[in-house]
Amino acid sequence: MGRQYAGSVEAELDRIPRLQLATLPTPLQEAPRLAAAIGLDRLLIKRDDNTGLAFGGNKARKLEYLVADAVRAGSDVLVTLGAPQSNHCRMTAAAARVAGMECRLVFAGHPIEQVQGNMWLDQFFGATWTFAGDRPAPECMSQVADELRASGRNPYVIPGGGSNGLGALGYVGCAFELAQQLHERGERARYVVCAGGSCGTLSGLTLGVALSGIEAEVVGVSISRSVPDRVARVRQIMSESCGNLDLPVPDASPTVWSDYIGRGYGMPTELSRRALETVAFSEGILLDPVYTAKAFGGLMGEIEAGRVQRSDLIVFVHTGGTPALFADPAIYWHPD
Ligand SMILES: Cc1ncc(COP(=O)(O)O)c(C=O)c1O
Repeated sequence: MGRQYAGSVEAELDRIPRLQLATLPTPLQEAPRLAAAIGLDRLLIKRDDNTGLAFGGNKARKLEYLVADAVRAGSDVLVTLGAPQSNHCRMTAAAARVAGMECRLVFAGHPIEQVQGNMWLDQFFGATWTFAGDRPAPECMSQVADELRASGRNPYVIPGGGSNGLGALGYVGCAFELAQQLHERGERARYVVCAGGSCGTLSGLTLGVALSGIEAEVVGVSISRSVPDRVARVRQIMSESCGNLDLPVPDASPTVWSDYIGRGYGMPTELSRRALETVAFSEGILLDPVYTAKAFGGLMGEIEAGRVQRSDLIVFVHTGGTPALFADPAIYWHPD
């Protein structure tokens, strides 16, 4: 697998319907002051916080494929789930409006009074929500979808994080975009680092890096304990994506850095706080508190431990999420 497949993969990707939601390509930005601050010679940031749909973030690329599929299915309402401060929910609510649909959200846990950050934005898009309470959120989502069907609607159910084989194609495309940007600069990256949540981003990048022939190690930094085995999850999503692309599954797996979760999802760590401050202070770039600060903190931790070398060229994929900065942390902290 590798470069010899690149042209045919891009042709296959072009064959799959996409609704344009993101402004692409996103910049690949050199971050010299940040590199110096954390002990690297060079650092490149793939600015997927700048995808441009409702404050941007990684979900725009996934939703391009998922919402196109909802249009194909004649759906009139998107249904999905997440934490109350879910970036995925906010961007799905916005994407529904682009496609002329409504959006129903299911939030994990018990109702909360404060409508802040992402939830505040969900309201602008007219999304309505249900709290799952003590029930598992996916079970509650199935029930919401059944009720919609019973009332004559045609819901399209999007899994948490938009992370299935179809959604992950957005990050196969991102890897090809990155390959082109690196090629134009004559650069070779040692690591491509992103946050690992529901793993669609990590899966798409792992598959896309393998197929495009970039010789880099793809790393996901775990941000919670909700996915017990991220490598297995990535392999599963990759095989679904390969089914969509009509390609054999390449023998590629990501590296997972799982020592940076701290007390759990959304709970800050000493490194994640330091990451947020260092990135903002040195480059004027905002990370989000739940995903990218933990992922960048993980990168800093690996550099400090000497496992990532000063001379390694890193591409950090900034996956967005900044509206959560405007929510009381008590809203996005919840047990894994
Ligand atoms: C800002 C941000 N970064 C990263 C992720 C993780 O992406 P994935 O769910 O594809 O692992 C998410 C998921 O919601 C997110 O909102």
